[in-house]
Amino acid sequence: ETNEAEKVVFSVPSYACQRRISLDNHNTIFTDALSLLAEKAELSNEDGRGVAFRRAAAVLKSLPRTVTDMEQLKGLPCLGDHSQRVIKDILENGVSSEVKLTTQNERFKALKVLTGIFGVGTKTADRWFREGIRNLTQLRNSAPSLNRAQQAGLEHYDDLNQAVTKDEADAIGEIVEKAVLAVSPRSEVTLTGGFRRGKLTGHDVDFLITHPEEGKEVGLMPKVVSWLESRGYLLYQKTTRNSYLESEDGPGRPSSNMDRFERCFSIFRLEKTERLNAKKPEALAENGAQPQEDVTCSISGHMQLQDKDSQDEQPTGDKLWRAVRVDLVVSPISQFAFALLGWTGSKLFERELRRWAGHEKAMSLSSHALYDNNQNIYLRAASEEEIFAHLGLEYIHPFERNA
Ligand code: GTP
Ligand code: MN
Ligand code: MN
Repeated sequence: ETNEAEKVVFSVPSYACQRRISLDNHNTIFTDALSLLAEKAELSNEDGRGVAFRRAAAVLKSLPRTVTDMEQLKGLPCLGDHSQRVIKDILENGVSSEVKLTTQNERFKALKVLTGIFGVGTKTADRWFREGIRNLTQLRNSAPSLNRAQQAGLEHYDDLNQAVTKDEADAIGEIVEKAVLAVSPRSEVTLTGGFRRGKLTGHDVDFLITHPEEGKEVGLMPKVVSWLESRGYLLYQKTTRNSYLESEDGPGRPSSNMDRFERCFSIFRLEKTERLNAKKPEALAENGAQPQEDVTCSISGHMQLQDKDSQDEQPTGDKLWRAVRVDLVVSPISQFAFALLGWTGSKLFERELRRWAGHEKAMSLSSHALYDNNQNIYLRAASEEEIFAHLGLEYIHPFERNA
């Protein structure tokens, strides 16, 4: 029998950036469902609905216990009618009927596979779907014109849809560090993205590069990329110049700022060393932590069978290397704290930080700067802690930004 006094009541602040959300999620049964519905909305160009589901999931992720009764949701923020219906369905039936229908939906399944190709967004995937393309075999046979990114994405499809482990991220970190130090000895490399939030797996590896002396980071990215390329570490790379421009009174000189903040989307060729091969999946669980998200990186079984072409060079089927997506970003030291905060994520945490800044503080936050719209000044910061302080927020450790 349920005693009124035993019912756990939760209290959660309305912005995700006010909460501490570790990887210790007690409500995966609900958050997995809500995340899938967010994905479905995003694949249908219903971004507003997608964010609503992601916000609802982030509320449940922050709870210290598993939700067992709809009563416990009273007073919680960000839980709209639709999200509540999904939660109720799961509480009553063990599964959400909408999730079940979605996973069986032809369009959802096809768009998931097609957008799972690096370089393919919703728009392209949707066009292919309307042309009758449902899977990789049909895509290969219909031979639509693919850009360089998509060709690489298709070629390395299986590898890139296989979760990257922390060991692999560290191995790539060593290579990136070696490259950066070789071309600029005092430069610094920082692991960002999900791995900085303590995740044990990821869809890629993200690095932020800076130099302690302002301006010395200029021109670094092409040198790092050449170093990596000449040693055969890159299967694909695209370096893009960041078009960010600051106003006159911002940090740095506007005229020379154009080419300071560069990004490189790449695909690394990572040798499978003894160390990485020896690591069995079970070994992950021994650390006490559980791999939470993104074990779903590989979407469904059939993909394993499809990529015959890329295995031809290794008749044994035991490829001695794997492809890994890597993002490199170079930031001037004056913007480093903002870049670090902006590239650590999670995506929802970042979105909520910017919403908090705009709506609650009349400030504009980006990965470059924080602008105070009342005082009309840029607020400088040398650390993430200082940015949280400017925003009037308690400092949230990266491990607790897993909204
Ligand atoms: P996994 O890679 O799946 O483990 O998750 P992740 O959290 O690392 O995601 P991802 O690598 O996609 O992004 C890492 C962080 O970089 C997120 O906070 C993103 O918001 C941020 N980010 C990604 N792309 C951009 C971009 O083009 N500009 C800026 N400023 N930030 C970006
Ligand atoms: Mn990442
Ligand atoms: Mn990334």
